[in-house]
Amino acid sequence: MARFIVCQTTELPPGEKRIVDVAGRSIGVYNVGGEFLAIRNRCPHQGGPLCEGVTLGELASDGPGDYRHSRAGEIVRCPWHAWEFDLRTGASWFDPVRRRVRAYEVDVVDAVDLPANEVPPRPGMVRGPYTAETVPVTVADRYVVLDA
Ligand code: FES
Repeated sequence: MARFIVCQTTELPPGEKRIVDVAGRSIGVYNVGGEFLAIRNRCPHQGGPLCEGVTLGELASDGPGDYRHSRAGEIVRCPWHAWEFDLRTGASWFDPVRRRVRAYEVDVVDAVDLPANEVPPRPGMVRGPYTAETVPVTVADRYVVLDA
């Protein structure tokens, strides 16, 4: 499984989403209260652009006049025919076992944990064709060690 960099966390604030193309697939990446979730942007009903739909939460009731909101922003409603899917699992609301959309694991990593060639250039900058020679550097027991 390959890794793809979507953006910096500051570019995707809570309540926002970003739709990206990854290896020929359109995928919606959501920031739900600081947690990042992702699903395929293709509705299993008739192929609608699922991630262009609104997000909402869960509403439960034990009877008239009683209702509870929860899971704000964790459900997406397809803009074509209103089928709803759980952003955490990809399961549909009405048939969670048989009707689902692909959900993807999302990690947040520090730039220092990424290989240099995977770190995207800063906004407004373009990665150049020239690079300086680098050597691995490690720190062991407060000594800075250069592996050359
Ligand atoms: S295409 Fe999504 S609900 Fe029909």
